[in-house]
Amino acid sequence: SVIYLKDYEVPAFRVEQTELRFELEEEQTLVRSQVRYVRNPDSANRQHPLVLDGHEALELQRLSIDGEVLSDKDYRRSGEQLLIPNLPDHFTLECITRIEPQNNTALEGLYKSDGMFCTQCEAEGFRRITFYQDRPDVMALFESTIVADKQRYPVLLSNGNMVDAGEEDDGRHWVKWQDPFPKPAYLFALVGGDLQFIEDRYTTSSGRHVVLKIFAEAKDLDKLEYAMNSLKHSMRWDEQVYGREYDLDIFMIVAVDFFNMGAMENKGLNIFNTSCVLAHPETTVDAGFQRVEGVVAHEYFHNWSGNRVTCRDWFQLSLKEGFTVFRDSQFSADMNSATVKRIEDVTLLRTAQFAEDAGPMAHPVRPASFIEISNFYTLTVYEKGCEVVRMLHTLLGAQTFRKGSDLYFDRHDGQAVTTDDFVQAMADVSGRDMSRFKLWYSQSGTPQVSVTGEYDAQSQRYTLHMQQSCPATPDMATKQPFLIPVAVGLLDPGGEDIPLQGGETTEVLELIATEQSFVFENIPVEPIPSLLRGFSAPVKLKFPYSREQLVFLMQHDSDGFNRWDAAQQLAVGIMSELIADHQQGRELILDPALVDAYQQVLSDTELDRAMVAKVLTLPSEAYLSELAEVIDVDAIYRVRRFVRDSIANQLETLFLRVYQDNNTAEPYSPDAASVARRSLKNLALAYLMATEKQEYLQLALQQYRQADNMTDSQAALTLIVHSGFVQQASEVLDDFYQRWQNESLVVNQWLAVQASDPKEGALARVQALQQHPAYDGANPNKIRSLISIFCAQNMLNFHNTDGSGYRFLADQIIVLNKQNPQIASRLLTPLTRWKRYPQERSALMKAELERIRSSGDLSRDVFEVLSKSLVG
Ligand code: ARG
Ligand code: ZN
Repeated sequence: SVIYLKDYEVPAFRVEQTELRFELEEEQTLVRSQVRYVRNPDSANRQHPLVLDGHEALELQRLSIDGEVLSDKDYRRSGEQLLIPNLPDHFTLECITRIEPQNNTALEGLYKSDGMFCTQCEAEGFRRITFYQDRPDVMALFESTIVADKQRYPVLLSNGNMVDAGEEDDGRHWVKWQDPFPKPAYLFALVGGDLQFIEDRYTTSSGRHVVLKIFAEAKDLDKLEYAMNSLKHSMRWDEQVYGREYDLDIFMIVAVDFFNMGAMENKGLNIFNTSCVLAHPETTVDAGFQRVEGVVAHEYFHNWSGNRVTCRDWFQLSLKEGFTVFRDSQFSADMNSATVKRIEDVTLLRTAQFAEDAGPMAHPVRPASFIEISNFYTLTVYEKGCEVVRMLHTLLGAQTFRKGSDLYFDRHDGQAVTTDDFVQAMADVSGRDMSRFKLWYSQSGTPQVSVTGEYDAQSQRYTLHMQQSCPATPDMATKQPFLIPVAVGLLDPGGEDIPLQGGETTEVLELIATEQSFVFENIPVEPIPSLLRGFSAPVKLKFPYSREQLVFLMQHDSDGFNRWDAAQQLAVGIMSELIADHQQGRELILDPALVDAYQQVLSDTELDRAMVAKVLTLPSEAYLSELAEVIDVDAIYRVRRFVRDSIANQLETLFLRVYQDNNTAEPYSPDAASVARRSLKNLALAYLMATEKQEYLQLALQQYRQADNMTDSQAALTLIVHSGFVQQASEVLDDFYQRWQNESLVVNQWLAVQASDPKEGALARVQALQQHPAYDGANPNKIRSLISIFCAQNMLNFHNTDGSGYRFLADQIIVLNKQNPQIASRLLTPLTRWKRYPQERSALMKAELERIRSSGDLSRDVFEVLSKSLVG
């Protein structure tokens, strides 16, 4: 059934205190909860029953009120709810449930990962542990006692501070934890296992001493240092940039191998997917280091944006996620290269979030309804939500934005609030009316902005004419115009910024109407506009640039992001034309403008290496697909190859020189400059390998053998495996596996490299790998590395016109639907885009969606995505 934002009601009861006791055993876990309830004076209906959430699999063993055991006539259990009527205004409810974490394959609630007990309660996992008002606006003080066998589970953790511990005479021990901050159930966490840890210390700006511990299995103890340093950097940064200090005496992170998402911000006890916390030069690539740094920061920042101030209901998810993604992106920009970080974020947004906005699951940043909230941990809520907060930052300026965040944290500390409350704080400190801006939260779809320029030499006036529109989405037919901040600079023919009002070189125009013109006075020559600098709004902007003008912007724009974007637009324009040529059966001829531009960038030794690597990376197949009206898989694939190969052949000597210049033997470091050097070197190697010359195979093999770090060895591995040198490909694959078979995360890379190999027969290889001892169909990381990568990054093979790729994916989803609904539902994404493909493929994709629909009992997760995808 569908849940609507407009139906929100305050809870009938508040909770003063939640006491939990867990007896962890091999065959079962007993959970006793004792909860002190108080009738909520704000609730309209004073006769309202207590409505508790509880998963159907919960075995209820005892329910009592103030010591009086209830019989089954005293309450009603239906579906996921338990209703108790006729209650006093104050009482303590005791509840004992029996659960089987060892059989919990959904990885929600309490489950086992590699023999260790752990939890994932966001969004609605707590109801798989006990009966409770499992909603974020019910905040309580938690106290948890965990009892378990001491030998198997020497480490027992929960939120807050450890206040007591003891031993029992049967070999079991217990630990009691108390969390002094009220929190909703989704922030509860428990861990029990045989874990090792590293420890450090941090003193907050006001002098609080905090113990920092990161736990992992013994074999991974040597991969925790980077996360620890990232944590300390995050703590300092949040004090300096947001004035936010940590508030407990201890902060813990636990690494687990089985995890549906990246990580979770449980109060004082973050739980992380190993892929987002373990890092070591020998096993982790540069992007992995950056991911660890970013996710550690993200979860840490949630302590304020999420935990101290939380969400009223799950429609407000972006209140904490959009804001926290914004905070972590600012942090990563400060720690590394800001321009590179921006390019990466925008690339993700434009490829994946724009596609989501254009697909059947399109929804606003603050959704209006859902069937299963797990389906709304989306790029729209996270990444577009981040862009919305970034726009507030752009419109208000850094200082006023900080005043707004201070007011927000201060005003709502300890509360569960809404995105409106967040915007209101920004409105209050700036004195601005934000009602139009709020449409970013309530309207789905990617706005389009068309811009033209007009210069009048006589009056020295330059005018930008802008038009905005937003396509209909399945959830919303018509949209009102948005407030779109468009950051603009004007370049003179020499490539210098023309000073604008107040001497600034960038001005933020506020487009609010459907059509609007902006006039710049005292412009001495006809300028070339640099539009949407830094990607100031999540829109598709069009301006009729000539190719010469794009090359000019690539070379001169003072905005690094827009320099890169000009190169992208140039490549996209050229490739789109070639795609049309391919479809008409015309011979493909590459416009020399692209090669010339790339050659210039490559020869410019002044340029930042990371920028050079980004500029020379061709738009991905996924991005070209998103831009296409109808996705012609073969044309996109062929054209991209053709362009890559042509560039490689024409700039071969230059690439070789760049490779050699950057192939220096320094010890590994994940700092921005070293990452940039490796990324440029490996980009050069990729182009060299595209020539298919034996000598470059030798170069790649040499790099593979000699590399002292995973970034270089994996880059070489991928290029060799994806090349036509099949003999060497299979040799390095075997060698790599032999060497790394005991490193689960490295094995995932080994799976992914094979899953993304574009050569014919990839599906058979993927299916064979499912039987390999390295594969585990219950582990989400393995599923992502093999199945998701095949479906998302092996365009030709997944979209094989015999339908085998689609059939394969549907088979996986049918199995996972029962086993792990969250993962099943996520895997569905590529099939849901069926309407974007030409008839033949789209019919095959749709047929597989229908087959899943008729396969039997569907989880809410899969049902929602399926039914939305099959409309119309
Ligand atoms: N709050 C977590 C984060 O963004 C994500 C948890 C998602 N969990 C889920 N079941 N969808 O860091
Ligand atoms: Zn988050």
